[in-house]
Amino acid sequence: MKTLFYAICCVGLLWPSGLRAAEDDESMNRFVSSLLKKMTLEEKIGQLSQCAGGFATGPDNTQLSRTTDISRGLLGSMLNVSGAAETRKYQEAAMKSRLKIPLLFGLDVIHGFRTGFPLPLAEAASFDLEAIKMGARCSAREAAAAGLHWTFAPMVDISWDARWGRVMEGAGEDPYYGAKVAAARVRGLQGDDLSADSTILACIKHFVGYGAAVAGKDYNSVDMSWGHFANFYMPPYKAGVEAGAGTVMSAFNDFENRPCTGNEDLLRGLLKEKWGFQGFVVSDWGSVGEMVNHRYAKDQKEAANKAITAGLDMEMVSECYARNLADLVREKKVPEALLDDAVRRILEQKYKLGLFDDPFRYCNEERERTVIGSERSRREARYMAERSVVLLKNEGAVLPLASSVRRVALIGGLSKSQKDMCGSWTCADESKVVTLYEAMQKRGVEVDFHEGYDLESNEIKDLKGTLKAARRADVVVVAMGERAWESGEMTSKGNISIPEQQQRLVTELVKAGKPVIVLMMCGRPVIFNEVRQQAPAILCTWWLGSEAGPAICNVLWGDYNPSGKLPMTFPTHQGQLPLYYQYKSTGRPYASSGWCAKYIDIPSEPAFPFAFGLSYTTFEYSALKVLPGDGGKVHARVRVEVKNTGRYEGEEVVQLYVRDESASITRPVKELKGFEKIALKPGEGKEVVFDITDEQLGFYDNRMNFVVEKGDFTFMVGTNSRDVDAVSYTLL
Ligand code: GLC
Repeated sequence: MKTLFYAICCVGLLWPSGLRAAEDDESMNRFVSSLLKKMTLEEKIGQLSQCAGGFATGPDNTQLSRTTDISRGLLGSMLNVSGAAETRKYQEAAMKSRLKIPLLFGLDVIHGFRTGFPLPLAEAASFDLEAIKMGARCSAREAAAAGLHWTFAPMVDISWDARWGRVMEGAGEDPYYGAKVAAARVRGLQGDDLSADSTILACIKHFVGYGAAVAGKDYNSVDMSWGHFANFYMPPYKAGVEAGAGTVMSAFNDFENRPCTGNEDLLRGLLKEKWGFQGFVVSDWGSVGEMVNHRYAKDQKEAANKAITAGLDMEMVSECYARNLADLVREKKVPEALLDDAVRRILEQKYKLGLFDDPFRYCNEERERTVIGSERSRREARYMAERSVVLLKNEGAVLPLASSVRRVALIGGLSKSQKDMCGSWTCADESKVVTLYEAMQKRGVEVDFHEGYDLESNEIKDLKGTLKAARRADVVVVAMGERAWESGEMTSKGNISIPEQQQRLVTELVKAGKPVIVLMMCGRPVIFNEVRQQAPAILCTWWLGSEAGPAICNVLWGDYNPSGKLPMTFPTHQGQLPLYYQYKSTGRPYASSGWCAKYIDIPSEPAFPFAFGLSYTTFEYSALKVLPGDGGKVHARVRVEVKNTGRYEGEEVVQLYVRDESASITRPVKELKGFEKIALKPGEGKEVVFDITDEQLGFYDNRMNFVVEKGDFTFMVGTNSRDVDAVSYTLL
């Protein structure tokens, strides 16, 4: 009897998850299959077409006229339209069509919606996956309240080249960490139930390798082996798909000499067949038509043929599918079954979003008014912003500022710029941004503001007046760096140094004799050697979004002890790029002299290494040791003790790096394979243990097989990728 009771309990426990999911899939399959059967060829092609609404985020936006197709059922999706009322208008047109298939509304909600969050690269500096997931949840909540079903995020492209402006959209240079961030963002956006009115479809982009554009030049060619791709670029795409992302976006660039948008090995072979991806692939803006520019298609008809054959399901903005697919099918050049597969994938996502139950579920103006810009959103944005700040220098413990600091000379127009605080690829309501200037005033500090330098020309302005303000202040705070539009799409730079005059101003301010704190506001790693030498205190504050001002003040005055770590290496010199910490030994490993991998005219060391970040307190690492595994999947454990040896509570990102001492392919000198962010009170210590499994020891061979080889390894643990303690280990 007891056995029967337990059996019933087990089935009961299983019922909600496993069996219900199967039931849901079955009902979705029945619904989609019956709808597909009713669709004409033209209606199918309509579902494969996406046009732009309000504004263009690329060239050739001829699409505004396409909206007439909606009520004829010849359009499946729109991008760059938002707002409960605005989307309702288009959805009502779609409900006039023969089959009443709802439109899918997509937008680049990259770091927050109307409440702006820090840049994705800045969020990555937090090394706080829960906070990153929370940020994505908040973005989804606000976007869904504005009628949106889908965001073209997370961008998960790994990049080692800060000349490429789109590093601001990603999680930096490390594939292990990038994979964790990709999964966190997907889970934050999609939640556990896509039909909830606070979750939206995620989009893993840009598939693949866009961050490896040659010379950091946006849209440029990408040339790498499958083996290099697998170990250094593939993990975040794979993690995002495994986390359940409903869509993937093909990249503009070519890969293995074929544009990703028409690359069957990538879209069908790797993504859909090998990884079993069930969602749909959308092109990047116009990238189907751009295969003609690549000279990979002689005309738009060939481009349509190559894209649909490769597994590209929805065409963003260009009209190759709309104009050519019907002929290609009728001419028997493209099997209609390929279109059916693409349509099915798209209809399934619309079904999961609950749009067939209620096409207007996301068009609730009352919810839009209460959710967007809520106190909860602002609190979460501030929380994320505080944790995104990286303390790069703090000579003489200039920071945190004492509460006795009453007069601050605040230098730099960026401290008053709402627009720049939003960063690029922003949806934020600029008018609601709290700037540093405003936040300082609210703090009751006497703020003596001077522009210091012209925001357009970067030339020093009124140096005399600025120095006078510095001399009569308790401290000097300088907001400097890039303008928000200087990082993002189409912003590749040949020179990532901060303008000389901005840096010269800091040198002059230091001579005034008061403590100078530099806030480096940027969307990418930048070079500022003069400031790095002259200023006693430097915080990298990126672009922190709607709560930038309060977050920076909380860090300056120590209400929050900065815990960020750089997700990308900051170079000393332009010529070092591309620059990354997981480089290979080479046959002549870098040394300071001799026949080795080095430059004769510039240093090889970075200004700040990957994962560098200080705290107002200090942490001591000790007792690093390898412990036995569990005899199963855990080969070994690495244990370390970390103690807060300073005066302030603080958080430390304890990192584990692994080096394979000898392998069947050349391997990097070290790779991040684990991290844990811990909070410690002054004097408090904690033991941190990392499990060593195949994930920490394995790699992809040149045939893309994940392998683990026996032999010697070195485990390194520390506070950044350079300052580590090491211990040896042999896998038998
Ligand atoms: C842009 C970007 C892509 C974005 C899309 C829609 O060109 O490359 O990241 O999602 O077009 O705006």
